Amino acid sequence: MHNKQNIIERILELKEKLNAVILAHNYERGEIQDIADITGDSLGLSRQAMEQKAEVIVFCGVHFMAESAAILSPEKTVLLPEIYAGCPMASMVTADALREEKKKYPDAAVVCYVNSTADVKAESDICCTSANAVEVVNSLEEEQILFVPDKNLADYVSRYSTKEIVPWEGYCPTHNQILATDVIRAKKEHPEAEVLAHPECRHDVIDLADRVFSTTGMVEYSKHHGNEFIIATERGLLHKLKKDNPDKKFYNVSEYTVCPEMKAIDLESLLLSLENMQYVITVPENIRVKARTALDRMLEIKRCR
Ligand code: 13P
Ligand code: SF4
Repeated sequence: MHNKQNIIERILELKEKLNAVILAHNYERGEIQDIADITGDSLGLSRQAMEQKAEVIVFCGVHFMAESAAILSPEKTVLLPEIYAGCPMASMVTADALREEKKKYPDAAVVCYVNSTADVKAESDICCTSANAVEVVNSLEEEQILFVPDKNLADYVSRYSTKEIVPWEGYCPTHNQILATDVIRAKKEHPEAEVLAHPECRHDVIDLADRVFSTTGMVEYSKHHGNEFIIATERGLLHKLKKDNPDKKFYNVSEYTVCPEMKAIDLESLLLSLENMQYVITVPENIRVKARTALDRMLEIKRCR
């Protein structure tokens, strides 16, 4: 059995030897964020995956994120250390179901949140993330938008767009279970704190928030403003917020803000991933090319909230 320090040293050794880079989403376990070369939100990590010179990308996140890296960098080997780490929201829409829905809205543009499979991206006109969803929708010529799979993000976008947005009935189980009553309770306990919410939250939670951001948006905002924050998103983000701002206070909006999928990877599975080159994520070329078009169209949009 290795101890933690041995595991860390072995990961760093193998990373060097394999010319690998470790990317980690802001919701990952603290130990994974700490060993990663780069942490970020979905948009930032997609950009980083493309720009990396390394031959191997170890993606500490969930399946769709590693898949996006494989779509954007087919010449690199993309590893996801835990093959079953998936996003339940991404599984709420399939390419077949989307094709059927598109028949009902022949004039609509299809915008898909990056929290979706490659097959669904391949059926979409453009992708978006929580950082740029409003800009993506407003950049389109079409007046009607079929928005998949997050109904809450669709609802958030509709606050800032005059377009007709047809939402899919999907949602993030972790964000959807944050309730307005949780925010009200947290505000009572911490009356001086600003509420920062993720746009995957419900409508009434967004109504109560002072600011709405992607995870990196929260990281940036809290660095430059305020001293005390109630955080309405997955609790993994608090690791980074506290590390970046040791003198500021951050509170979870409730005790249930855990995404189990984002906690699947630990130091042991990361080491196994590098030792055995597992699990390699690939996307069939015909799907990859179409999904890439949807991602590229998004990445061309510069301004992000
Ligand atoms: P962002 O970090 O892009 O805001 O993503 C949130 C998310 O739910 C990822 O699964
Ligand atoms: Fe999916 Fe929600 Fe987990 Fe993100 S936090 S991976 S959207 S289930």
